[in-house]
Amino acid sequence: MGIVFDEGLIDEIKSQNDIVDVISKYVNLKKTGQNYKGLCPFHNEKTPSFIVSDEKQFYHCFGCGESGDVISFMMKLENLDFIDALRLLGEWAGINIDEISTSKKEKEEIYRKNKIYEINREAAFYYYKNLVKEKNEGISYLVNRGLHIQTIKKFGLGYAKDDWEGLNKYLRNKGYDQESIFKAGLVLERKKKNGYYDRFRNRVMFPIINTTGKVIGFGGRVIENKEPKYLNSPETIVFNKGNNLFSLNLAKNEVRKRKQIIVVEGYMDVIGLYENGIKNVVASLGTALTKNQANLLKRYANEVIIAYDADIAGQSATLRGLDILKEVGCRVRVVRLSEGKDPDEFVRKRGKEAFLEEVKNALSLVEYKIMLSKEGNNLKTTEGKVKFVKSITQILKELKSPVEIDAYIKKIARDSGIAVEAISTEIYGNTKKNKEKKEIGNTSKYRSKHDRYTNKYNIQPLKPIQRIGYIEAERALLKLIINNNNFFKRVKEKLSFEDFADQSNSEIAKRIYELYENTDSIDLEVILNQLNIEEIEVLHQIKRSIVPEENLEKALNDYMKMIQKHKLVQRKIYIEQELKKLEKEENKSKEQIVRIRELCIDYEKLLKELKKL
Ligand code: CTP
Ligand code: MN
Repeated sequence: MGIVFDEGLIDEIKSQNDIVDVISKYVNLKKTGQNYKGLCPFHNEKTPSFIVSDEKQFYHCFGCGESGDVISFMMKLENLDFIDALRLLGEWAGINIDEISTSKKEKEEIYRKNKIYEINREAAFYYYKNLVKEKNEGISYLVNRGLHIQTIKKFGLGYAKDDWEGLNKYLRNKGYDQESIFKAGLVLERKKKNGYYDRFRNRVMFPIINTTGKVIGFGGRVIENKEPKYLNSPETIVFNKGNNLFSLNLAKNEVRKRKQIIVVEGYMDVIGLYENGIKNVVASLGTALTKNQANLLKRYANEVIIAYDADIAGQSATLRGLDILKEVGCRVRVVRLSEGKDPDEFVRKRGKEAFLEEVKNALSLVEYKIMLSKEGNNLKTTEGKVKFVKSITQILKELKSPVEIDAYIKKIARDSGIAVEAISTEIYGNTKKNKEKKEIGNTSKYRSKHDRYTNKYNIQPLKPIQRIGYIEAERALLKLIINNNNFFKRVKEKLSFEDFADQSNSEIAKRIYELYENTDSIDLEVILNQLNIEEIEVLHQIKRSIVPEENLEKALNDYMKMIQKHKLVQRKIYIEQELKKLEKEENKSKEQIVRIRELCIDYEKLLKELKKL
């Protein structure tokens, strides 16, 4: 910040770090034409849409829109600020920017930061030695909580003695100036301004380490039951709580493999899980999850699992966290621990497998909200039931896919004993009643005949929710047939690619239909090369679209029905409009009367077909 680097130096470092080489360290790149292509490290995808240009030394992702040069790549991927990214790239190129950089200001900033890092490292070492060298309350506390020495070492845990000046003296003896020790947040100034005293006393110490291995701050836990239970480093030039996550340095490699990250509330939760072999875990540093933290999580993981404490505070923190994670586009689920207050207690009591089982069964955002609502209302009373149904209506209205909404309605009905119809009515409105009031064509002489059809079959206006629904159904169906030739064969019997109402979906369907003429399985690369940018984006959405995990047969049929239904409903709307127009004619010609009759016959057929679906 505020630091201006010599352009020459930046160019030098960039030219020594070919973007293709650097990105290849993290992403498996394949050459395609002039460019390289791979799976985007910044968002979750299965089809490559991340392009690296050798010629332009630039990357761009068509899926999530991230783009930039080699420096911004390193900043985003490793969560570094500009200087640290430059420093790392410099190291790879054999350039030490701390020696070379010319501006005085920037040199000073680097120097000051490095000094704080150093002091923090020394302090961590001091606390660690206190903990392991001789008998003390800290070590007995940790061992009593079930930690082994390997875990204590791994996290670099420590002990701050019950001593007002232990650390300060130690650091001064090492030659560090008072001002810097103060700026690192490790000591406080005495009221009378006649000296400094240690911030952390008689506490178990948790160093907070960033992804490049630098100690940026500390958390300290009391040993007796005193307040405050935890004390943390203040914000310093190297420590910003909202931008970091406890233990991301240890979790990140594990997360790269599994693509899943578990977020817990407490330091001890992370450590307890680690002790029990679950290592893809971070904690949010005692604050509500921030947007920066959410983005950081998204950078490393495809899926975020929230496992906060089961108490009320944990619950509202979970809800806030869910919303923030959803906002930045994370896939997120919630663990609700059935036993034990927090993950640490749970894993100690029930063990690794039981915890992993909970993670496996973690609830989706919607499921979680429904569950809270169910718990918050007494379903034995009518009032409770009404409140419950009204609140889940709000939750379900946010869902786009009617197939999904339907599945939830059935599940809620089963769980709550409230009739499916009652819940549906609350969500979709009572369309039958609404309808009868506004039938078409009330003025014509032909009304009576025409009304016979319309009233009888209850024309319902298309709802926006269904419009979104068929696009999703089309995409889900495409996903199913891309992966399964047998599914394709069955779909082909009932639908042509032109039956896909959405233009892009139809284009993609066309390629799939064509490709299946010659092969048994679909190579998406082949299709990708035939599409324009918008269609590529849609193809990514297809790959991302969620299909049920089981009962695929049923899903396949449901999707096909929805697409057929959409087509029929479109036709129905068309006929209704035609009839309306014709009815407005004062003196109808013979042809027009014939046409009306034809349309009515058509209409009746159509309604029958619709009913069958
Ligand atoms: N925290 C904090 N200041 C406090 C209390 C809590 O900064 N006064 C933060 C700490 O990061 C703590 C987290 O909030 O780890 C969760 O709090 P809690 O659940 O009370 O802590 P645990 O880590 O579970 O600690 P323990 O099991 O030792 O009680
Ligand atoms: Mn705890």
